Amino acid sequence: MIDRLSDAGSRHLLSTPALVCDLDLLGENVRSMAKRTAHAGIALRPHVKSHKSAYVARLQLEAGAAGLSFVKLSEAETLVTRLSRDGYPSRISALLTSPLVGPVLAKRAADLSQLCDLTLVVDNLDGVDELANAARAASLELSVLCDVDVGVARTGVAGPSEALRVVERIAASSHLLFTGVQGYGGHLQHIAGREARRGATVTSMELLRHTVEALESHGHVVALRTGGGTGTSEIDIELGLLNELQCGSYVFMDREYREALGDDAEGRFSQSLFIETTVISDNQEGHVTIDAGLKSMATDAGNPLVVGHEGNVTYRFFGDEHGLVTRGPHDPFRRGDRLRLVPPHCDPTVDKYDLIWLVRGDVVVGVADVDARGCSQ
Ligand SMILES: Cc1ncc(COP(=O)(O)O)c(C=O)c1O
Repeated sequence: MIDRLSDAGSRHLLSTPALVCDLDLLGENVRSMAKRTAHAGIALRPHVKSHKSAYVARLQLEAGAAGLSFVKLSEAETLVTRLSRDGYPSRISALLTSPLVGPVLAKRAADLSQLCDLTLVVDNLDGVDELANAARAASLELSVLCDVDVGVARTGVAGPSEALRVVERIAASSHLLFTGVQGYGGHLQHIAGREARRGATVTSMELLRHTVEALESHGHVVALRTGGGTGTSEIDIELGLLNELQCGSYVFMDREYREALGDDAEGRFSQSLFIETTVISDNQEGHVTIDAGLKSMATDAGNPLVVGHEGNVTYRFFGDEHGLVTRGPHDPFRRGDRLRLVPPHCDPTVDKYDLIWLVRGDVVVGVADVDARGCSQ
């Protein structure tokens, strides 16, 4: 965390739109997931894609996370370097959850593995060969998981026989170490209603279970079974197939998750992330204009909520830099008023900001860099 508090002592003095996080709620969320997974004897490797911040990653590691998950190489390169520059005392265990393509990225992965304990995923024979060649050229061994498609159809092998081909190719390389499987059910996370989400998760995890059994019956040790997200966390714990969870959004939450999870056990995390905005014009009868539009938040998940006015007023995108908020007799809103929004989708919203202001109530107590902002390569 960098001390830039001279810029603002009260959240009302922040230039808006600003990304603001309630530090106490963030801490509670971090501890709650850490406690729950530890109690179940399951490792937690939080996904950095939600916050892209060394400050939050460190909170998670200090609360007992086994390591960190990353999607992209540049995300991992940036955060591993930042954590070590800031004096994080241990070597980071890093998992890259998306497969790499080509010799250039394979070499970068080999280079990164000198700085941290790196595990990679593969779902393709050429991908295995590219990593094996890079590891041989660097005279090192890379740890590799087989990525299994559990129903998303995004990455991953289709089932046991393809998994077997990939794992046998890994095992044939003296520079690769097969350590397990990844089965991430992205399509499950936002299914509304516990029973529907549980049913779909059971089906997906059966696919993974069959693949694990097939690999084990051919003599491969599947030590790590990693996957899961915030929306399926309790169900994954109950099913017990995954021995490591990659949850990400639980640190901040967002409107989309709030609506899908409601009062379910997975929804017990608090909304800690907000967009602080200002009313810049109140000349219209039925609405005001605020300074947060398309450039202030991800738009894939619909509209944000206006904190304290949920159910009474609505927000609608009003161009790149502006938002429209309806108003009525109970919610008059005036020029200069501050309105706080719950972002529709946290991960891509965070990627729009350089800083997250950390607050306790109305007091700004710190600021965290979004170190890996834009690191999508
Ligand atoms: C591979 C992978 N693992 C874990 C997560 C974290 O999921 P969530 O943010 O829903 O907790 C994601 C999110 O997209 C992901 O892509």
